[in-house]
Amino acid sequence: MINTYIFDLDGVIVDTAKYHYLAWKNLADELEIDFTKEHNELLKGVSRIRSLEIILDLGNKTISDADFDRFLHKKNEEYLSYIEKMNASEILPGVLNALDFIKKIEGKIVLGSASKNAKPILEKVGLLDYFDAIVDGNDVSKAKPDPEVFLIGAEKVKSNPVNCVVFEDAVAGIQAANSAGMLSIGIGEKEILKEADFVFSDFNQISNEFLEKLENN
Ligand code: G6P
Ligand code: MG
Repeated sequence: MINTYIFDLDGVIVDTAKYHYLAWKNLADELEIDFTKEHNELLKGVSRIRSLEIILDLGNKTISDADFDRFLHKKNEEYLSYIEKMNASEILPGVLNALDFIKKIEGKIVLGSASKNAKPILEKVGLLDYFDAIVDGNDVSKAKPDPEVFLIGAEKVKSNPVNCVVFEDAVAGIQAANSAGMLSIGIGEKEILKEADFVFSDFNQISNEFLEKLENN
């Protein structure tokens, strides 16, 4: 029986991918690297450091370690200026209903995100109090598709992985959930999230009954 509901943040609870894109785009322009919205897809679920490596690879560029750190910092400062203006209107469709319903049936709610900015974002959109545990980019040493982030999350609320479901929009996140031995639910497109146990376009497509009756076989 499922009693623990683990949520990814970016692309599942809020659409911060657009802010990551704006900040990375400005940096790529400065580095004279062509960076499109399609390229931005490659960065979903990927850590900040790995994201900059991918962008540099796209432009076939190498930079010094000092510049690498400087650019990471600059990108994050710009990203934080967008986060600063976020509010509850940016919560993705159906998410609030799902969180309220899971609370009602006394399920445990956990965050499992690669972002080091997860807590300020949840605070800005007013969702911090829903979470029984938060595992973010500050707590993990191995990135998705490694299951570490979700396994730590389960441990924090004393749940067995077989009793956990993970909601994810990134392929690497679905793979992480699967290798953690958890039920995986993709939020996005079926063609992309092929490895998920179930896929929905957004939380409005997930009924309360479905959430209550989830089983991991
Ligand atoms: C999430 C996003 C990625 C982002 C990563 C790190 O996984 O999907 O696009 O790069 O978090 O975010 P941060 O806020 O720490 O830069
Ligand atoms: Mg995501």
